[in-house]
Amino acid sequence: MSQLSEKMNKRVAALTPAAILTFNQKISTIPDIVKLTLGEPDFNTPEHVKQAAINAINDNESHYTNSRGTDSLRQAAANFLNKKYGLHYDPATQVLMTAGATGAIYASLTAMLNPGDTVIIPTPIFPLYIPIVMLAGAKPVFVDTSDNGFVLSPEKLQAAIDDNQGTVKAVILNFPNNPTGVTYHRADLEKLAAVISKYDMICLSDEIYSELTYDGTHVSMGSILPEQTLVMNGVSKSHAMTGWRIGMICGPAAIIDEVAKVSEFTMTSLATNTQAAAEEAFKNGFDDAQPMKATYLKRRDLLTAGLAQAGFTCPTPAGAFYVFAKIPAGLNQSSVDFCYDLAKEAHVALIPGKFFGAGGEGYVRISYAASTEDLQKAVERIQQYVASKQVSEK
Ligand SMILES: Cc1ncc(COP(=O)(O)O)c(C=O)c1O
Repeated sequence: MSQLSEKMNKRVAALTPAAILTFNQKISTIPDIVKLTLGEPDFNTPEHVKQAAINAINDNESHYTNSRGTDSLRQAAANFLNKKYGLHYDPATQVLMTAGATGAIYASLTAMLNPGDTVIIPTPIFPLYIPIVMLAGAKPVFVDTSDNGFVLSPEKLQAAIDDNQGTVKAVILNFPNNPTGVTYHRADLEKLAAVISKYDMICLSDEIYSELTYDGTHVSMGSILPEQTLVMNGVSKSHAMTGWRIGMICGPAAIIDEVAKVSEFTMTSLATNTQAAAEEAFKNGFDDAQPMKATYLKRRDLLTAGLAQAGFTCPTPAGAFYVFAKIPAGLNQSSVDFCYDLAKEAHVALIPGKFFGAGGEGYVRISYAASTEDLQKAVERIQQYVASKQVSEK
């Protein structure tokens, strides 16, 4: 058997399991640990959305659907994006429903990349894009944004394009951003669009946290550079539906045709009852994210204030549900060592910033998609931990 396993696909064999999940598993055995590691809402899916799935099951909606998603779901998704963010996508040709935003990331990168292509990835960033780029035989080109408030500047984008002349197929944007909570404003996007539009390249814009924007309204890259942008979104974060696995990708029809082939050949079609639920979420749950957002906002403020008291520097996040905090000077600046020690001694689990790429070392990601009680407990424990370390070092 060992010989057979050595003959598997070389690109797959070269990948390692996701560091965040491995870390999360390791610290989960610590008794009474408060975990602020997860990137998913702790709210329940709204009742009306659940009911739509139950109705679909009772109505025997149990057959394969159009591989791009049911007509009515694509229509509802396109309307949602139009009313919320002024996007104009034809549901028949420019909208593809996928298995979560993850399905959109996989299908789009697989459809667009050839071996030898490069993809510009600003860091720190949600790491999932990287193994998918590598599976396609393409090369991620990382651009550290930590010296620019975690925003990719047009100058840095231009430099990355110049350094990889003729090979750049795409740039990935994710905003509001996981892990930093930073978002891009219209002016930032317009400047990036001015660079991107000079080249035959795609902007893959992961906007899965768009409904959790605290600072003004979300502006989609699809409204600025529609002919070169693929917008990804879904119901996972907006409607607390991570387990339902419904996402979407929208863009120029000719590109969506290619992405749709990959999606169809990997999953034939999505589950009928979860499509019915997502349709209900888009149609009648237009503002379902609002009460959740109000709660996240209170938690964010509780967390940033408590962390600041403990000596962490943490710019106020403008969206999503993460704080990306700088470990106080005088403490172990290796984010992995710091997080293991904090988990062991203070029973609080945070994710090491290093896992999100260059610029993340020296930081920790803290998810506030957790109960207020857990957040309070975590803040107290972190404050005590930092105080004890500072005393022991004097
Ligand atoms: C930036 C980002 N994109 C995509 C995803 C995956 O979303 P989904 O659950 O819809 O596949 C996540 C999940 O945490 C994320 O943080």
